[in-house]
Amino acid sequence: MIAEGKIVEVRERASIVEVISDHLTLKKMGRNYLGLCPFHAEKTPSFTVNEEKGIFHCFGCGVGGNVFHFLMQYEHLTFPEAVERVGKRYGIPLERLDRPAARKESEEKEALYHINERAAAYFHEMLFGRPEGKRPLEYLKARGVQEELARRFYLGYATQGGQGLVAFLKKEGLPLNHAIRLGLIGERGPQRYGEKFFERVIFPIANAAGKIVGFGGRVINQGLPKYLNSAETPLFRKGATLYGLFQAKEAIREQDRVVVVEGYLDVLALHQFGVSYAVATLGTALTPDHVRILARYTKNIIALFDGDEAGRKAAARSFEVFIDGGLLGRAAFLPGGEDPDSYIRSRGREPLESVLEEAIPLADYTFTWLEEQHGKSIEGKSRTAQEIRRLLAKVRNPFEVDLLVRRAVDSLGVREELLRAPAAGGPARPASAASSRPASVQAREDSVERSLVGLMFRVPSVIEQVEREADLERLVSPKWNEVIQKIFLERRQRGQANPAEIAQGFPVAQASEIAALLLEGEGIPDEECENAAADCLAHLRRRYLRGLERDLRQAIRIAEEKKDEKTKKERMLEWQEVVQKERQLERRRPVPKTEIG
Ligand code: UTP
Ligand code: MN
Repeated sequence: MIAEGKIVEVRERASIVEVISDHLTLKKMGRNYLGLCPFHAEKTPSFTVNEEKGIFHCFGCGVGGNVFHFLMQYEHLTFPEAVERVGKRYGIPLERLDRPAARKESEEKEALYHINERAAAYFHEMLFGRPEGKRPLEYLKARGVQEELARRFYLGYATQGGQGLVAFLKKEGLPLNHAIRLGLIGERGPQRYGEKFFERVIFPIANAAGKIVGFGGRVINQGLPKYLNSAETPLFRKGATLYGLFQAKEAIREQDRVVVVEGYLDVLALHQFGVSYAVATLGTALTPDHVRILARYTKNIIALFDGDEAGRKAAARSFEVFIDGGLLGRAAFLPGGEDPDSYIRSRGREPLESVLEEAIPLADYTFTWLEEQHGKSIEGKSRTAQEIRRLLAKVRNPFEVDLLVRRAVDSLGVREELLRAPAAGGPARPASAASSRPASVQAREDSVERSLVGLMFRVPSVIEQVEREADLERLVSPKWNEVIQKIFLERRQRGQANPAEIAQGFPVAQASEIAALLLEGEGIPDEECENAAADCLAHLRRRYLRGLERDLRQAIRIAEEKKDEKTKKERMLEWQEVVQKERQLERRRPVPKTEIG
C-alpha cells in the first residue's frame, strides 16, 4: 500500500511526456505528442500523449490511460510498482505502508535465493570438477550437448548417494531449514536428511534476472520419473517461469520473436544450433502469465507443437491462453512424433526456422479446428459459433475483435451478431432495453454515454448539468455511471475534474476508453457543449422510457392472460404515465444525427 496523497503527488510531479519518452520517441504535433505505438505494430503514428491532461491514447489499438497505466502495460508492472517507478524517477521517496513486513519477506527471499545459488554451484562442480561427473558428461555428450553450452546453462549433476548437498550446505554454514523450504532436501528424522535430486543431470531454472528459482533433474538411465522439478516455492511458480528466458532474452528482443517449446533439452538444442530465442514451459501447459512475461520482450510469440493429434489439440487450447495473456499468438507444427531437439539435430537450423516461418495465427487455426471438431451441420456450426463468441468476448482490443469477427464470419458463414457477445447490460435498466439487441445498436447506445462523459470533461458546467439529472443511474449503464460518479466526486473535492485522476481508479481497459474520449476530436465549440449534453441526456432518457414501456406492455399482457385485473389496471396506469413522459420528450429539440465526441 502507498498512501493516497503520495500517489497524487507523484502523478502531479511527473511529466507523462518525459516518462513515455524514456521508452519511445515522441514528436510534438499541435497540443499533443505523437509516436509509434509500442503496443501494436504500426507504420504511421497514432499513439498520442497529452501533457496537459496527463494521459495517453493510441487511436490504432485503443490502449490508453495515465502515466501509471502506461508503465503497467509497457513494463508489466503492478500499480504500486508503477507508482514507485515514477516516484523514483522524480526523486519522491515512497514509504510503503506495510514496509516492515515487506522487508522481512524480501530478506527471507534473498536467503532462499542464496541457497539455490550455492546448490547450483555445488551441482555444477559435481558435473565438471569431479570424477563423479564423468558419466553424466558422457550422457550429455551422447545427447549432443556441447560443453560450452552446458556451462552457459550452468548444468550440474546430483550424485548417486544423495548426501553430498546436505554435507556441502552444512560445510558452508547455510541453514538447512531454508533448503527444506526450497524442497531440495527433506527431513527423514532427527538430523537425517534426504535429498530430492540424486543421480540426475541438473538444469538450474533461472528467472529473467538470472536468479535461480528452482531446478529440473533428468535421469541418466532409464529410471522414472524421467524428470523431477522443484516443487512450487516462494521463489518458483511453474506457471510463471520459462526455462531459458535469461539466456534467450537478448535474442528475443533483437529478433523480435520467441519460440516456446516443452523441454529442457529442446531449449538446449535450439540454442546450440543458433535458435537462441527459444524458451520452454516446465512440464505444464502454457499459461496467461507466461504470455504476459514474454510480451515484455516481444509480441511475436510462436508456440511450437508436435504435429500429432495431441499437439494439434494443445495448440487449439492455447488460443484462449494467449487471449487471456493479452495477445493472439501463433502456432507452428513439427512433423508428427518429432520434438524440437530431435528435429533440429537431424535436419538443422534452416528447416526448423522455416517451420517457424510457417506459423499460423492461432485464431485462424482454432476457428478451423473448432469447425473440424463440431462439423458442418447446423448444430455443429452453432456450437462452433458459440465457442468463438465466448473466446472473442475475452479479447480486449476492439480492433482485433472486429478483425476476428470478420474472419469467423467468412469461414463459418454465420451472421456477425451471433459472434459478438452482448455488452453487459445494467441491472438498473429494464431488462428488455439491455439484452437481445444487435451489437451495432449496443455500440451506438454506449456512444451517447461516451459523448456525455467527453462533454463533462470539456466544460465544467456540463458536470453540474448532469448532476442535476435525478434519474441518472437508471439512464446510464453501471460502467459509465461509475465514471460519472467519480467525476462528481473529483469536482466536489478538488473543484475540477482532472482526467488523469479520473482514469486512475479504473482498470487499464476502461482507463483506455476514458483517455480516448479525452483526445478524440474536439469538434464541438465550447458554447455548444451544454446543448449537446442536454441532447445526450434526452436521448438516454428516451431510451430508458422506451425500455420501461416495453416491459410494462409485457406485464399487462401477462396480467391479462392470468386474468389478474388489479395488476393489469395498475400497469396500465403506469404505462400511460410513461407514454406521456415519452411524448413530452419528443417535443424537445431533436437529437442531432451526427454523433458527438
Ligand atoms: P518430454 O517427455 O517430452 O521429454 O518432456 P523431452 O524434453 O523430450 O526429454 P528427453 O528428450 O527425453 O530428455 C518435456 C518436458 O516435460 C517435463 C519436463 O519439463 C520436460 O522437459 N517433464 C517430463 C516432467 O516434468 N516430468 C516428466 O516425467 C517428464
Ligand atoms: Mn526430447
